[in-house]
Amino acid sequence: MGLFRPAVFLTILTLSSTINAGKCPKPCRCDDAKRTVACVGKNLTEIPLGVGEPTLKLDLKRNNLQMLPRGAFLHTPHLTHLSLQRCGVVMVKEGAFRGLGRVVYLNLAYNKIDILYQESFDGLSALKELRLDHNLIEEIRPGAFAQLGFLNTLTLAHNHLVYIPDMAFQGLQNTKWLRLSFNSLNNLAAEAFAGLFTLRRLSLDHNELQFFPTQTMTRLPEVKRLELSYNPMTYLEEESVWMGKLTHLYLDHSSLQDLSDQAFSQAGLLVHVDLGHNQLRCLEPLSGPAKLSVLNLTGNPIHCNCRVRRLKEWATAGGVELLGACAGPAHLSDEPLQAVTSMDLRCRGGAEALEEQEGESDGNITATAKPKQTAKCPLDCECDTEAHHASCESRGLNKVPRGFPLRTQLLNLRGNHFHFIPARSFLGAGHVASLHLDFCKIHEIEAGAFRPMRNLVYLYLSDNDLTSLEPKALAGLPQLVYLHLEGNRLTQFPGAALSLVPNLSVLHLERNAISRLEPAGLLASAAPSLMKLYLRGNAIGGIAKGALNSANIETLHLDANRLTRVPSDALTDTPNLVELSLSQNPVRWLGPETFQETSHRLQRLYMNQMGLEEMSKEALLGLGPHLKVLTVRGNQLKTLPDLSPLSGLEMIDLRDNPLVCDRDLLPLRRWMERVKSDVLATCRHPLELKGQKVMDTNVFATCPESTASPTEMDPAGRAAAGLQSARAKTKARKARSTQ
Ligand SMILES: *[C@@H]1O[C@H](CO)[C@@H](O)[C@H](O)[C@H]1NC(C)=O
Ligand SMILES: *[C@@H]1O[C@H](CO)[C@@H](O)[C@H](O)[C@H]1NC(C)=O
Ligand SMILES: *[C@@H]1O[C@H](CO)[C@@H](O)[C@H](O)[C@H]1NC(C)=O
Ligand SMILES: *[C@@H]1O[C@H](CO)[C@@H](O)[C@H](O)[C@H]1NC(C)=O
Repeated sequence: MGLFRPAVFLTILTLSSTINAGKCPKPCRCDDAKRTVACVGKNLTEIPLGVGEPTLKLDLKRNNLQMLPRGAFLHTPHLTHLSLQRCGVVMVKEGAFRGLGRVVYLNLAYNKIDILYQESFDGLSALKELRLDHNLIEEIRPGAFAQLGFLNTLTLAHNHLVYIPDMAFQGLQNTKWLRLSFNSLNNLAAEAFAGLFTLRRLSLDHNELQFFPTQTMTRLPEVKRLELSYNPMTYLEEESVWMGKLTHLYLDHSSLQDLSDQAFSQAGLLVHVDLGHNQLRCLEPLSGPAKLSVLNLTGNPIHCNCRVRRLKEWATAGGVELLGACAGPAHLSDEPLQAVTSMDLRCRGGAEALEEQEGESDGNITATAKPKQTAKCPLDCECDTEAHHASCESRGLNKVPRGFPLRTQLLNLRGNHFHFIPARSFLGAGHVASLHLDFCKIHEIEAGAFRPMRNLVYLYLSDNDLTSLEPKALAGLPQLVYLHLEGNRLTQFPGAALSLVPNLSVLHLERNAISRLEPAGLLASAAPSLMKLYLRGNAIGGIAKGALNSANIETLHLDANRLTRVPSDALTDTPNLVELSLSQNPVRWLGPETFQETSHRLQRLYMNQMGLEEMSKEALLGLGPHLKVLTVRGNQLKTLPDLSPLSGLEMIDLRDNPLVCDRDLLPLRRWMERVKSDVLATCRHPLELKGQKVMDTNVFATCPESTASPTEMDPAGRAAAGLQSARAKTKARKARSTQ
């Protein structure tokens, strides 16, 4: 079969140019006048042969193609519309669409594609609309869309994306609308949307974003409409939305409990903000958007008391239409916000707002009939029952106060002088999700200190005086996910204590005095779900094999320690490592296969300011195409090993190295030309090139490359060769100019 195909293929090519139209592949329907061919729902397993060369529209939907091979459409170069939805396509091979330079519309929806490879869409240089919705896409490889410079609309809704990496959409310089709705996105890299210079509309609704992706969004200068509905965001902090041209923002059906009045202060052109169906009980007047005309608060439990009065007055003064209705108190319930007057928005008694709030939070509306006692709050503290925050920051307290409002979720006690935290210090704080005990001079925490805090997710114990952690100190915290212990004096990894917090995922231990990480699978048993471990600024001089034994660790920061070699042995136990920082450790030399056994998922490797003098040619072996970022800034490197196996590299920082721009650097320079990404590197030698960007120097053109050269040189030999080669080059240049 395979043998005969090329022959058939050729025959058709020649026939079609002479006979032209008139013929129609067997299972298809053809309209010669309109130049359309439709083979819909025919169970075809291959692209039908014999589709006439002049065809403009080819409709192949509802077939069973499975795979689109390279050059699948080479014989129909005039196509403008191609429909391939519901074709069971699992894979689009690189170059599948080569030769389709006139296609403006391509539909690949409802297939089973899981990865978008680089060059999957090469050849579609006129494409305006690409539909990839309802597939199984979980990964977008860099460069997947690089050739689609005219694409207007890209639809990736209803896929399985969890994360968008840096530069995922590079090349889409005319795209106006990007649809990423109905995925599982919980994380967007800071540069995820870099290069989308003309994007006007971005749809990110129905995802898993827990925070407004402020930094990522600042890369979208032209976006006017942003759809973020149905994401589990709970809070918008000040300056969350930093988007100068945004006019329409949709944040409805999220889990917003509160937002800063400054949340939109950097989005001055907002006209329409939809905050419908959240958990907002009250809202401060919003700073920033002077032209706001609609603020939709439909479906929020707005409690129409004196605290809403300011909002109402601000809206009236600024001509903002407030949509939604009061949820309480009883006599105003269901009253449209637009209809209530500031006169209606009252609280009773002196400490009116708080009091009202307490009554309401019991859901007991009859309580409005008689005055209630003032909300409870310990002396010296402030309790905001609206936001469920309580704070006694920097009050000189030496004992943890009691008696916070029952529903307090954030308890801020930082900057006090507790010294010692005895058992059961937080009785009645069962709703607290975030506890701040940083800068409290704590040197001891008794077993069971946090015992009833079954909802605690964030615990800040940073910048205290802890030298060790009692094994039962963290008992009773089943939900703890984030633990901050940085800036203490811990001398050992607190493994035993961590075994009681099974959900711990992010652990900060920077700026302690840990000198060694010991084996015995401490991490695996101690913190089975740990994903991010930060150990910057300790005194770690060695990491025993087995000490990092953790299948889940993705981020490991070991920078600013005392490692003199890369702990290759220990790194064999972290199969899922994605980010590793080794910067500022005194590692002078990277031997062969330093990273051979390290995770093949490693994407980011930081090795700045280590005094690194030499890398073996094989030093980076084993770091495959997954590696995206490599930084070796501020070292003593004169040259680099060949980077070509790192085919996925997107960013490399070589600044502040005494690079010798000669033949040895040629592979790097070639690689730079190929990837066309911004490589941060300047030449130090030879003298005439000092300070020039490696990319800008054209001296490489004159390198006598073919000249036999000792390629396998020892480090000392190579350094010497580096000095030699400047002279060699000058010679070469002279030789050329005389030719
Ligand atoms: C397509 O193939 C499937 C099984 O391979 C068969 O059940 C179905 O009837 C076929 N449909 C058509 C339209 O031929
Ligand atoms: C306000 O939000 C509600 C509920 O989300 C929606 O039905 C309504 O259309 C929105 N109104 C405007 C003017 O956007
Ligand atoms: C409200 O409070 C009153 C008096 O304390 C009590 O009798 C009543 O059952 C409460 N109602 C509700 C709905 O909780
Ligand atoms: C803690 O772990 C349990 C079980 O794995 C899970 O159901 C729960 O959602 C986790 N809690 C948090 C806050 O992640």
